[in-house]
Amino acid sequence: MLEVENVTTRFRSRRGVVHAVNGVSFRVGSSEIVGIVGESGCGKSATIRSVLGLIQPPGEIVGGRAVFDGTDLLAIPAGALRRLRGSEIGFVAQNPFGSLNPILSVAAQFHNLIVAHRGRLSRKQTRDMALQALQSVGISGPERVLDGYAHELSGGMAQRVVIGMATVLGPRLLVADEPTTALDMTIQRQILDLLQDLVRKRERSMILVTHDLGVVAQYCDRVVVMYAGKVIETGPTAQVFARPAHPYTQALLGSVPRRGEEIGILAGRVPSLIDYPPGCAFSNRCVHALDRCARIVPASRPVAGEDGWNVSCHLVSGDADPLSREEDVRAHRAG
Ligand SMILES: Nc1ncnc2c1ncn2[C@@H]1O[C@H](COP(=O)(O)OP(=O)(O)OP(=O)(O)O)[C@@H](O)[C@H]1O
Ligand SMILES: [Mg+2]
Repeated sequence: MLEVENVTTRFRSRRGVVHAVNGVSFRVGSSEIVGIVGESGCGKSATIRSVLGLIQPPGEIVGGRAVFDGTDLLAIPAGALRRLRGSEIGFVAQNPFGSLNPILSVAAQFHNLIVAHRGRLSRKQTRDMALQALQSVGISGPERVLDGYAHELSGGMAQRVVIGMATVLGPRLLVADEPTTALDMTIQRQILDLLQDLVRKRERSMILVTHDLGVVAQYCDRVVVMYAGKVIETGPTAQVFARPAHPYTQALLGSVPRRGEEIGILAGRVPSLIDYPPGCAFSNRCVHALDRCARIVPASRPVAGEDGWNVSCHLVSGDADPLSREEDVRAHRAG
């Protein structure tokens, strides 16, 4: 359904060039929920915004492809991409209030969205579609919500409305950026259950960006683990969680005592994305780092025998030259 290949995005800032997304690749199959996880600032939002053509200056996509059903989203004209976004691809942005217009009623926003994609439809027709969309996201008084404005909505309600807008046209791919971060646990669960339902019942696909590894374990078929703007490990959630290959994934999983807790309690810091380090970006925090880790960027390789499970780490590269590995170990011990 979606094949992201080598996407690279930078932001120019006063302090220098921010290497936010560095050659990111992953796939989303049909009927699949793929989770993107990683600490704050590791490029999750920049990655999906790149794929959806939503990077604005000072940001710039400098390379890569994002092929959705045969069409490279990064190569088509902006107008064509806008038509896909909203109808074929639904997007739930990180902050729901940011995607709602404060001066239009919810009904008017649904109307504008629907006619922009489906052409002339009456207010009555678009209202019926909106009512259905709001009911499907568990809003019990949809009439009142439709006639209201963004500022009258609670956080949970606003999030539901935004999901309703993202799904009203029946997109085949839904991209949700931390759709539940600001919400309490009960509402979080309800919304995720509902998203999962939408995907499973209608054979759609979803990319779910989250800080919460418990959410990934429960809802995602596959997981993409990002670190410093790169995918360092990706594979089926069950396998990756049972036997994480990358030391970063191991640390992440080891650092989460309870569901709902955020990542960010690992020792050490994410390197600056401005002075991007040579070698493996995790090497300065990695308890297993060898001499070469800080010098040579590890390639992404399949984890032994597993289809669709890849890791970028010198330590777990199946075909690593055992001699150079020993040299590394000696150098590491010496140093
Ligand atoms: N408009 C921008 N201008 C400059 N730098 C930016 C911009 N947007 C993002 N960045 C930088 O790109 C990097 C990746 O940011 P991104 O928002 O993708 O992280 P994230 O993984 O989504 O984090 P979070 O979990 O906090 O949402 C960060 O270093 C951030 O400062
Ligand atoms: Mg983000």
